[in-house]
Order: sequence, then C-alpha cells, then structure tokens
Amino acid sequence: MLLLTFEGIDGSGKSTQARLLDEHLQAEGHETLLVREPGGTELSEQVRSILLEPSLNVQPFAELLLFSAARAQLVAERIRPALDEGHIVICDRFYDSTTAYQGAGRGVADPTWLRAFHRRVTDALVPDRTYLVEVDAETARERRGGEASADDRMEAAGADFYERVSAAYAELAEDEPDRFCRLDGRRSIDALHQSVRADVAAILDGRGGTGVSGTGSSDQ
Ligand code: ADP
Ligand code: TYD
Repeated sequence: MLLLTFEGIDGSGKSTQARLLDEHLQAEGHETLLVREPGGTELSEQVRSILLEPSLNVQPFAELLLFSAARAQLVAERIRPALDEGHIVICDRFYDSTTAYQGAGRGVADPTWLRAFHRRVTDALVPDRTYLVEVDAETARERRGGEASADDRMEAAGADFYERVSAAYAELAEDEPDRFCRLDGRRSIDALHQSVRADVAAILDGRGGTGVSGTGSSDQ
C-alpha cells in the first residue's frame, strides 16, 4: 500500500529513523514490514555477507549486480507480497543507494542506464516517499565510531567516495522533488523523527505530504 525508503551515507542516522517510524506506525495499529538492504531474505543476507566481506576483491560492476540481485529477491519474496496485503513497507536503503554508491561512488554506470536497470530489478516498484538524511562525511564518520569498521568492506571507502555519494543523492532529490524528502541529519533524533512522522501522517491523510518537508523542500 505504501513504500517508504530511507537513504543517506553510512552513519547518517537513517536506520534509527526507519526503526522509529516502524515502531510508531505499529503503535498506531498499522501492519508494517521493515527491511534493510542488502538483506531481508535468506538469499539476500548471504549476498550481503559477500558484499561486506573485507577479504574479497569485488569488481565494481559485479558489486552493482550483487546489490541488485539481493534487491530483486527482496522485492519478489517480501516487499511486493507485503504491499499486496496492504501493509506499509519501510526499506532501509533501496535502489537510490545503488545509483549513489555504485553509479557515482564507484563510477560504474550512468544514471539513465541505471534508471532502466532498476526498473527491471524492482519490477517497476517506485517508493511513495524517500527520506534522505543528509549529514557531512565527518559527522557520519564520527557516528560510525570514528574509524572505518574493520569488518565492513563498503565502509573502508574514503571521504572522497562519501562526497561523491552525497552529491549523487542531492542530485537525485533535485531530479525527483515529489518523491524525495530531504532531512537535515544534524538535527536531533527526535526532531527528525517528528518531521518524518508528520510527513507520513500527511501522506496517509491523502494530503500528499505538503507542509512538512517533502515535495522538494528541505527542512534545513
Ligand atoms: P545509518 O543507518 O545511517 O548508518 P544509524 O541510524 O545506525 O546510521 O546511526 C549511527 C549512529 O549515530 C548510532 O549510534 C545512532 O544512535 C547515532 N545517531 C543517529 N541519528 C542521530 C542524530 N540525529 N544525532 C546524533 N546521533 C545520531
Ligand atoms: P550497512 O551496514 O547496512 O550500512 P548502513 O547502516 O549505512 O546502511 O551496509 C550496507 C553498505 O552497502 C553501505 O556501505 C551502503 C552499501 N550499499 C551500496 O553500496 N549499494 C547498495 O545498493 C546498497 C543497498 C548498499
């Protein structure tokens, strides 16, 4: 019924927001499904282990395909069925992550090609709203604990990589202002949660999320 996704660089605080929204919607009596990418199915979790394993040398295009394989399985096995049952699906990362990380971060493929590719991978599923939690690379690094995690291959990327990813996210938000809701991730966890909550309430009320921070505006 409703597909809501959270995006941002590692350590931006998006998983915290996805979890808080899920708890809130459940408390309000909604049926929800909260999933993270890559992951959420047995196959996708195994692909996740491959993708994050630091000892593996993964070529950029292979990386793109692996993230997408995990996503195709997740959509078919869990997201689509949950939507068909009328549930609210909250996804901690979705195909915008691939556009930002593999497309811009790794420089694998151009946005036009990726858009068509994502349509195939997701069976043309497009989020109703995407919350982009924006923080600078330094703040995100501090939130991740200061150092790149030794057991996460993706987090080993440097500041330049995260700058490219952030810029790509900003471009995506500018290209699709009705879908994206940009959030200033330097605000408190609760302040961010209140913004997300109000926006979702507006969507559920059929008002399209106006007045909070969606529809192309930002709360910054
Ligand atoms: P992500 O999913 O984007 O990697 P998390 O939600 O796991 O990020 O948050 C990373 C860390 O930052 C956690 O310790 C979390 O408690 C903290 N954090 C999340 N949001 C905020 C915020 N708005 N202000 C300060 N710390 C935050
Ligand atoms: P994870 O530990 O889930 O990080 P986070 O909490 O920041 O989401 O690891 C997922 C990593 O995979 C993260 O570095 C982002 C990266 N990623 C991509 O590069 N492309 C993708 O399509 C997805 C879904 C994730």
